[in-house]
Amino acid sequence: MKVFKTVDSLRKWRSNLNPEKKLGLVPTMGALHEGHLSLIRKSKNENDLCLATIFVNPTQFDRKEDLDSYPISLETDLHMLEESGCDAVFIPTPEDIYENKIASDLFDFQGLDKVMEGRFRQGHFDGVATIVRKLFRLTQPDKAYFGEKDFQQLQIIKKMVKNQSLPVQVIPCEIYREEDGLAMSSRNQRLDAKQREEATLLYQTLRNGKEMLQNGAGFENIHKMADEAFQSNPFLKLEYFEIAESDTLAPAISYDPSKKYRAFVAAFAGPVRLIDNIALN
Ligand code: PAF
Repeated sequence: MKVFKTVDSLRKWRSNLNPEKKLGLVPTMGALHEGHLSLIRKSKNENDLCLATIFVNPTQFDRKEDLDSYPISLETDLHMLEESGCDAVFIPTPEDIYENKIASDLFDFQGLDKVMEGRFRQGHFDGVATIVRKLFRLTQPDKAYFGEKDFQQLQIIKKMVKNQSLPVQVIPCEIYREEDGLAMSSRNQRLDAKQREEATLLYQTLRNGKEMLQNGAGFENIHKMADEAFQSNPFLKLEYFEIAESDTLAPAISYDPSKKYRAFVAAFAGPVRLIDNIALN
């Protein structure tokens, strides 16, 4: 596996690639787990070459302590990428990739960024879009792979690609879960044993919401169920539980069978912020 640590070396490699070869890109912030590897495998299956990136992007963190405590395990990550057959990895420094101006560009996501994560993490999606656009421009992938755990991020990246006519196909990848249902996340590493056990409530609540909708319950009752579930758990603090239309992320008011809905949850287990979501219909 080739390892590139500078923008120049990556650019050189990219410009020398056979234009006939299809390139798949898997952007990550490292601390890799099976969920990331499933993206690598999908990218490998669908392209000639797979390029992963590992970069903890400072501009998408609204809290310094969150950035400072983000797990880093570079040696293990490189080993896992190599084992999974990844062809190349790019590990830039902030100064190099941001050309010394470490700041976000501003985007218009037509409201997609005003709800859920965007409401609680100021500037987060401008930071995500800034780095993803830089990576797209630099690496010029045919396809780029993003997990549905960050469903709002995925919709925002698709919107950016469409608005700016970027020549890349964004491929959504299903959420990868632990056996007890907890969505895989780099942040799970920071949970203590009790928090890890209790963290399954996120997925349980989403599953209950889905079942309730299938049995004809209204959105209001599903919200009530979620609020009560978290209120009675002293280990988790609910930040939001939302039901939204899948395409627009507009809050769901009343059920329209012609529309697709998803439920979204964010909660703290101690200092660790977890998110998850599920397709409801
Ligand atoms: O989902 C992530 O890991 C990050 O938000 C991404 C897409 C790699 C951008 O930094």
